[in-house]
Parts: sequence; C-alpha cells; structure tokens
Amino acid sequence: MLGTAWCELLDDKSIPYRTASLPEFDITDPNAIKRFVTPDIGVVINCCAYTDVDRAEESEDMATLVNGTGVGYLAEACCQADAMLVHYSTDYVFSGRASEPYKIDGPVEPCNAYGRSKADGEREIRVHGCPHLIVRTSWLYAPWANNFVLTIARLAKEKESLQVVNDQRGRPTSAQHLAATTLKLIEEGARGTLHVTDGGDCTWHDFAAVIAEHANPGCDVQPCGSDQYPRPAVRPAYSVLDLEPTEAIVGPMPGWRENLASVLNQIGHQEAQKVQKSA
Ligand SMILES: NC(=O)c1ccc[n+]([C@@H]2O[C@H](COP(=O)([O-])OP(=O)(O)OC[C@H]3O[C@@H](n4cnc5c(N)ncnc54)[C@H](OP(=O)(O)O)[C@@H]3O)[C@@H](O)[C@H]2O)c1
Repeated sequence: MLGTAWCELLDDKSIPYRTASLPEFDITDPNAIKRFVTPDIGVVINCCAYTDVDRAEESEDMATLVNGTGVGYLAEACCQADAMLVHYSTDYVFSGRASEPYKIDGPVEPCNAYGRSKADGEREIRVHGCPHLIVRTSWLYAPWANNFVLTIARLAKEKESLQVVNDQRGRPTSAQHLAATTLKLIEEGARGTLHVTDGGDCTWHDFAAVIAEHANPGCDVQPCGSDQYPRPAVRPAYSVLDLEPTEAIVGPMPGWRENLASVLNQIGHQEAQKVQKSA
C-alpha cells in the first residue's frame, strides 16, 4: 500500500528512483540486499514488512525475521553504502494502555507479536547506526490495496447495517499523505524517530461511519465492543501517536476527515472509470 504511494509521489515530482520487491528482493537475504543497495543509492525507503498482525501471533519467528533481522541486514547495507535509511514502524510498539498521545521516546511495550517484531526493527537500525529516519505511523489507508476504507465502502454498499468496534482509538493515515510528509521530512534533513499520521483522532466506528455515509448513506453503522469480534492478536485500545515534533518541522497534519475525503473521491473516480470502460 505505502510502496505504491511512494511510486506515485516520485513519478509526480519527477524524482528518479528504482524499486525492489519480492521475489528478486527479499529483505531476509543479505545477498539480495547487497545487489540493490549500491554505493550510488543515496536514500533507501523501506516500505516492506510482514504486516499480517493476526498471523504474526502463530508465526512470530517469520515476522521477526522480516521486520527485525531483515531490517538489520538493510541497515548494515546502508552503513556500507553510506545511504540514508527511511523505515516505517508502528503505533503497535506502544502498550495501547495510555490515555494521552504517545511521545516519540515513550516506553516501548508492544502488546502483540507484530508490535514486538517492529520494535526489533527499530532497535536494529539504531544499533547499526546508519543515517536514518524511522517514521511510526498507524491505521494506513489508500485508494488501492486491501484496507479498512475500501472494505467498509464495499460492505456499506452490500449491507443495510454494519457493526464496527468503538473501543479502539487511534489516528488514521492516508498512505499518500504519509509518503508526501516523509519526503518533506527528508528534504528538511530530519533524522531519528518521528510520528506521521493524519491529524485528529477517532475510533474505528467513527472512521467507518464517515466512509459508509459517503458510500451508502442508507447503511446503518452501529458501534460495538472488541469483545464481539475476538481476534488472535490483541489490539491496542489507545494508539494515538504524538505529532508535535513532526508538526514543528513540516507544519500541521491535515485532519483525517480531509485526507479521507480525498481518498474517497479518488475511489469514486476509479469506480466511474470502470463503469465507463465496461459500458
Ligand atoms: N497498514 C497499516 O495499517 C500500518 C500501520 C502502521 C505501520 N505500518 C507499516 O507501514 C509500512 C507499510 O505498510 P503497508 O500497509 O503498505 O504494507 P503492505 O501493503 O502489507 O506491503 C508490505 C510489502 O512488503 C512485502 N514483503 C513482505 N515480506 C517481504 C520480504 N521478505 N522481502 C521483501 N518484501 C517483502 C510484501 O510483498 P508481498 O505482497 O509480495 O508479500 C508487500 O509488498 C510497513 O512497515 C508497516 O509495518 C502499516
């Protein structure tokens, strides 16, 4: 999801880049990394990860290999190529028990296997010491790939009512906004760890209600508790990331309603084009 946003942004700005993905580029294979991270590279933007949060519970070794050990291999290669590593991490490195936004240097206490694997990746980068920017983000969505916005928009058209959890609070993040804000941070010379999300915060129910209202105002979106939808991995109840240090560098983050409206409009355009093509 995020890799596509980066390609779109760099194409738009005519910034030259090259991409690397499976099967040629496997982050768990140091030799494959060396083939891509060559001394001319400048900046490496790592959008790859083991992102199946529930499956990570039973495959923590694999999640840790991709999100921890593999990130260490990449950091090592960046050290050797004198390249800057831009890497994405997650709100899931925090406990989920707070009641005010997590500061960048707040205690790292992941509540599930995915969060532990991503915390490992952060540690690997800091230990290797290559020039880096670790960007923690949360609740990603885009007009493509599999994500909450596309799923709720589809379900709202198919069903008269939906139940969505109302006891998890966080900050949604448009992948396009995340890529564009990261580029600004790179251009401003930001280093270390920062948080980037949309502005404001909400529950999954609040978020779903706005999506459904746009897709099908007739669909009734009811709040429910997480206990009604048990999942293999524990989800944080509160995962709002503090944005102050980021906003001090690049200005205020646009609110989630504004970024969501942009993505919903793009989804609408895509659907209209599909209808035109099939007519
Ligand atoms: N999605 C969210 O809500 C969210 C929230 C917080 C943080 N993040 C972080 O944001 C970043 C981008 O997330 P995303 O949602 O855009 O992820 P995504 O859509 O799931 O994409 C992850 C990519 O990583 C690739 N990949 C998996 N294993 C790999 C390996 N061993 N070597 C090379 N590539 C591999 C996958 O390839 P295949 O598709 O071929 O398997 C996929 O293209 C990740 O670091 C993620 O942890 C995401």
